[in-house]
Amino acid sequence: MGKTWSDRFEEGLNPFIDSFNASIEFDFVLLQEDLDGSIAHARMLAKTGIISSKEASDIELGLEKIRLEASKGTYKPDSQDEDIHMFVERRLISLLGEVGKKLHTGRSRNDQVGTDLRLWLRRRIDDLDLDLTSFQLALLKHAENNLFTLIPGYTHLQRAQPLSLAHHLLAYIEMINRDRERLKDVRKRVDICPLGSAALAGTSLPIDREFTANELGFSSIYSNSLDAVSDRDFAVEFTSAAALIMTHLSRFSEEIIFWASDEFAFVLLTDRCSTGSSLMPQKKNPDVPELIRGKTGRVFGHLQGLLTMIKGLPLAYNKDFQEDKEAIFDTVKTVRDSVKAMTILLEEGLEFSIERLNETVGSDFSNATDVADYLVSKNVPFREAYQVVGRAVKFCIKEKILLKDLTLNQWQNFNSIIQEEIYEKLIPEKVVASRVSVGGTGFTRVREQLEKWKNSLISPKE
Ligand code: ARG
Repeated sequence: MGKTWSDRFEEGLNPFIDSFNASIEFDFVLLQEDLDGSIAHARMLAKTGIISSKEASDIELGLEKIRLEASKGTYKPDSQDEDIHMFVERRLISLLGEVGKKLHTGRSRNDQVGTDLRLWLRRRIDDLDLDLTSFQLALLKHAENNLFTLIPGYTHLQRAQPLSLAHHLLAYIEMINRDRERLKDVRKRVDICPLGSAALAGTSLPIDREFTANELGFSSIYSNSLDAVSDRDFAVEFTSAAALIMTHLSRFSEEIIFWASDEFAFVLLTDRCSTGSSLMPQKKNPDVPELIRGKTGRVFGHLQGLLTMIKGLPLAYNKDFQEDKEAIFDTVKTVRDSVKAMTILLEEGLEFSIERLNETVGSDFSNATDVADYLVSKNVPFREAYQVVGRAVKFCIKEKILLKDLTLNQWQNFNSIIQEEIYEKLIPEKVVASRVSVGGTGFTRVREQLEKWKNSLISPKE
């Protein structure tokens, strides 16, 4: 059997152009969705009387047979199959003969591919949401174990103020939650059915678009047939949401990478998720976060690629759209793999060095703001208090001591209002505990947040 083209074509395609044109090599992953979409379409054709119910049930049986054959690997695409849609139709015709030729009534590959892609992506978004929830739970577990573990907080990567480690980890839970909300929002626009828009203008046949959309679980249908077959906004929106997920993972990766260095030594990498060097026997490399950081670039690239592919396209369908698939497929694979790898890394790949973290926080000037706040509580204007502490820090650096090592006498030379109670204010645990403003790192606040997340992640309302 030759190509499915009309008799208008006399000569075959140049073999190189034939394979250049084909998408079967990568769009085969849409098989399940193509079959689902075709079954819904066949049922609709029978319901509207365009074909008989016997024909529709034969078509449905044929399509299910193809599903089975493909799962067993007994029927595979070959070089005649340009894409997944042609692959299914060719087999259907070879199984059913004339009846098989009726399936494509009132539809085009343009609305078909849009339907398949949306069905496929909608399922993947739901899977990704579960992956992200598992990642949040892995973060939450470490956060719960480390409410009272302290970690230096940085700005400009300079020690700023000490934090509860749980507070640091909860920041990532927040970021991931925004990612989940974004996906939920994107999903609304993936969940619109283009089927029945045919090639671009709709059809003269009495089809029922609501019926097919309903069969496929779409929440609505496109109102404009041209828009329906040429809209790839959902692909851009999804890839953009994925790019932001990768950005968040990449930032966390970067932190883990330097936390694992000898210079920081805040975490220990276990053997489960780190690799050795082929040359240097002492090394343990953080390959997992490095790979995630590296893979972020691919997803940014896909986003750029999609935007650029779409930007010059006149309405309606253009073959350029075939290029959306590898971008979407690779984005889904990359982001899902990365979230999964990061979750495993948290679950079994790293241990926080609690002692080292607590010690680190006690050996710097990150309690300086607290002296200033103490002076403010004694009615010293903040800007003046700030200068007093600045002078004290300068003195300590010269003497190679910390603020806690200054005698009361020395403190009083900086400002006579200072009393013995200053020493309590300098203790890192007290410093952290005192930051009880809403959203702050104070233990009582962080405990509230832990409770909140435990409730919403472990027993979500929806
Ligand atoms: N393989 C094509 C794609 O991925 C299917 C649609 C082809 N439509 C057409 N008019 N040539 O976009």
